[in-house]
Amino acid sequence: MDQGSQSGRMALLLFLSLLGLFHSCWSGVLPAQVPQVPSLFTSHPCNNSLGLTMADITLQDINNERKEGYIFRLNRVVDVQENSQGGPDSVFYLTFDVLETSCHVLSRKNWKNCEARPLHESVYGRCKALFFESLTRRILYVSAYNCTTRPVSQRDIHMMCPDCPSPVPANYSDPWVFQAVSESLAKYNKEAAEGKKLCFYQITRASTQWVVGPAYFVEYLVTEGPCKEGQSGLQQHLKPLVDAKPVGLCKGSLTDSRARLEKSVSVSCEFFETQPTVAPESQPTEPHDGQQPVCPTRAPQQEGPKGTVQFLNDPDDEGHQEKLFPVQMDSASGKPIYLPPILQSFVLADLPIVLPFPEQSRSSECPGPAENPNHLVLPP
Ligand SMILES: *[C@@H]1O[C@H](CO)[C@@H](O)[C@H](O)[C@H]1NC(C)=O
Ligand SMILES: *[C@@H]1O[C@H](CO)[C@@H](O)[C@H](O)[C@H]1NC(C)=O
Ligand SMILES: *[C@@H]1O[C@H](CO)[C@@H](O)[C@H](O)[C@H]1NC(C)=O
Repeated sequence: MDQGSQSGRMALLLFLSLLGLFHSCWSGVLPAQVPQVPSLFTSHPCNNSLGLTMADITLQDINNERKEGYIFRLNRVVDVQENSQGGPDSVFYLTFDVLETSCHVLSRKNWKNCEARPLHESVYGRCKALFFESLTRRILYVSAYNCTTRPVSQRDIHMMCPDCPSPVPANYSDPWVFQAVSESLAKYNKEAAEGKKLCFYQITRASTQWVVGPAYFVEYLVTEGPCKEGQSGLQQHLKPLVDAKPVGLCKGSLTDSRARLEKSVSVSCEFFETQPTVAPESQPTEPHDGQQPVCPTRAPQQEGPKGTVQFLNDPDDEGHQEKLFPVQMDSASGKPIYLPPILQSFVLADLPIVLPFPEQSRSSECPGPAENPNHLVLPP
């Protein structure tokens, strides 16, 4: 945050406390009025730099902490509520909607460099986060988050686009999925691999579509060779290896033209940038490169993730009509907000207590505009 918006925010806080003063002066003079319970929250607009910056920082944290799945992209800011318990420190209660991209989280790319998936293969969701801000100490810290996502309803997609590819279970129950993985990987190793062979690690996504025959599209993680037995290509049992480190994501397809008795296979692989830290599972002992340890806008990672992502199934598969988005954020309330010890030492006053997460926005300027406003990918 720049100096200008900082002083602006300080002026805002001062202005609000003056308002509070006037309110208490007048309430004695107007006894007939129903006493107003002063709200504990201040609503902020959803399309200004404050909300967008917090959503950006939070989303980077979420994507960085995740070990599986695809990077989320911001679709819109839904609600920004501030609770300032006196003093310069505030807790923000942030709600925003996300879309899955086609970049794997292990690529560690910034979400802004990753495109959302096309509508028919969208996965969309909602995140809630607690965000600590101390303007005087220049701390912005994502204390907790939780997200819930689900795939776009296949029934709705099918009505709009009957020929679009539809997802299939990304396991080995369908022999065509297995075939698409092994043939595309074999093609890559034969034609494109320079030196080292790639080995199969794990399927991350699979879909099918009828073209001139069945076509299968697969996405899978790969490791670097030499491959262990059962890992290099056209064998019957593809099992994910737990002791290897994925180095990239391959996208392959297999189209079977039954009429002409021919198969066509395509493949492309993208490699992750090598990480400064060791395996993704292990906790860094030093802050990530580029991040200053203290008094910064970003804090070093604490032990363990600060939240979870819950993946729900297509509601059609479960016979539900309602597309609910339960995002649990209640376990933090009533307690002081979590800050890692290294930041706690910079906050002189007591840490603010977390309130029950506000359910409804009171700002007319929320939700903000959505990057993809299609109702099929917006949580209700
Ligand atoms: C949101 O903010 C951007 C940048 O300030 C502006 O261009 C856009 O018109 C705003 N959208 C809405 C719906 O207010
Ligand atoms: C594959 O996934 C489907 C649907 O999720 C499930 O019904 C099936 O049992 C799974 N098969 C295997 C071999 O895990
Ligand atoms: C986030 O969700 C997980 C699992 O659903 C839950 O254990 C945790 O308490 C939630 N976090 C908050 C802050 O409520």
